[in-house]
Amino acid sequence: MKHELVLVIDFGGQYNQLIARRVRENNVYCEILPYSTDIEVIKAKNPKGIIFTGGPNSAYLPDSPSISKEIFEIGVPILGICYGHQIMSHVLGGVVRKGNTAEKEYGKTSITYHESKLFEGISTNTVWMSHTDLVDAVAPGFEVIAHTADCPVAAIENKEKNLYGVQFHPEVEHCLEGDKILRNFLYNICNVSGDWTTDSFINDKIKQLKETIGDKKVLCALSGGVDSSVAAVLVHKAIGDNLTCVFVDHGLLRKNEGNDVERIFRDKFDMNLIRVNCEDRFLGKLKGVTEPEAKRKIIGEEFIRVFEEESNKLGKMDFLVQGTIYPDVVESGHGGESATIKSHHNVGGIPEDIEFQIVEPLRELFKDEVRKIGLELGIEEGLIFRHPFPGPGLGIRVIGEVTKERCDILREADAIYMEELKKAGLYKKIWQAFATLPDVKTVGVMGDERTYAYLVGLRAVTSSDGMTSDWYKMPYDVLEKISNRIVNEVDGANRVVYDITSKPPGTIEWE
Ligand code: XMP
Repeated sequence: MKHELVLVIDFGGQYNQLIARRVRENNVYCEILPYSTDIEVIKAKNPKGIIFTGGPNSAYLPDSPSISKEIFEIGVPILGICYGHQIMSHVLGGVVRKGNTAEKEYGKTSITYHESKLFEGISTNTVWMSHTDLVDAVAPGFEVIAHTADCPVAAIENKEKNLYGVQFHPEVEHCLEGDKILRNFLYNICNVSGDWTTDSFINDKIKQLKETIGDKKVLCALSGGVDSSVAAVLVHKAIGDNLTCVFVDHGLLRKNEGNDVERIFRDKFDMNLIRVNCEDRFLGKLKGVTEPEAKRKIIGEEFIRVFEEESNKLGKMDFLVQGTIYPDVVESGHGGESATIKSHHNVGGIPEDIEFQIVEPLRELFKDEVRKIGLELGIEEGLIFRHPFPGPGLGIRVIGEVTKERCDILREADAIYMEELKKAGLYKKIWQAFATLPDVKTVGVMGDERTYAYLVGLRAVTSSDGMTSDWYKMPYDVLEKISNRIVNEVDGANRVVYDITSKPPGTIEWE
């Protein structure tokens, strides 16, 4: 089944993916395309509506991203947001200019809405502004449908052609009832029915996977992370035993992680799972190595080797499952304007020279959608809401040389940390939290005895994508409890510190 589609045309704004997510949260499938996309491509996709994003440029400058007039003639409703609103006005004959100091608006702003389908049912008047330029005169055929004290043209409409523009950002949280505005656009103006639901995705995807794969053999490198787990369960639902999952346990996982993967996928989902235990092999390769990038390289290469060996034992496999998700697709240059090619951090570890066809069942999904699908498929919450975990695992959290003894100390400390965060109801508020073990021993005193043992570092950050982050302002009583428990319960650790570095300048991991 083909879903109704809304296109987000990206002019380089920082909220391009957020807009698409908001549309999807309203049960409408949405894709992001760069502003330079050929109009014929846009027409061929037969969208129900189009949204122009914001962007950092000035619509009136000759080299700024622009769009052909034709798009306003294809009869599809358009909503321009911020730069999108300005470029629409500019292209259609309105006037956009730089605002003077008093006219620039940043942050929460009070607005007056006039009557319009776009604002039906809105009872508050706070929006989120972030602009220097503004629309000074509307294009022919448009009327003003909102104003603020400093911005007389805060929103516009051309009723006849279903073209709308807003200077503010309805997609951000601080815009009160912004979601209602987007919903009005989708349901009252684009007249969508809202066919993008978890159920319809799962059913359609299973059907599609059955058609693509038939009775061929499929291999999946299962890491126990959210994406690979959901991808594997979905493929398993479609083709059952023709899927084989290989789980490489490199001994650098967290406490109980390997057993959990077996329990969930082999016992609960009854999947063909091969667990390859190769702790000694990885620790052997890492012996004496202290430099972080060297450790990463060794772990990555060894992973590929193990995976290759297992794959060869299985005979010919036709397909390989990958847990690629939509932000990876957009960021690798197949989606939006902010298109720089980026090698995907977490895909790493898949051999390049084995010939497989790739299956990417989550390619259209955002992370929050992957989680919803995972829960619907019956995967347990603990796995679905787990914080990100790097491929090299504890290999880069045991700072300096990686030994079994130090991995074990770290595993115990980290398990206590996670348990206490969950007990305090903080785990889901934090983007990523973990313990790390620097190559430092410190002196302490326990009872009447002098101790000389490892220092444990605790990290917890808030972030939306891991690119930038801030340290989490952890309540003191929770920190106290964690510190007490680690020092008392973990043999080999006698001191705890909390990392209060943001990124940048720090990174999230210590190595
Ligand atoms: P940094 O430390 O670069 O981390 O601020 C950003 C995010 O990426 C994860 N990370 C990795 N993931 N292989 C991975 O698969 C790696 O080598 C790696 N290094 C960092 C990190 O955990 C955080 O989520």
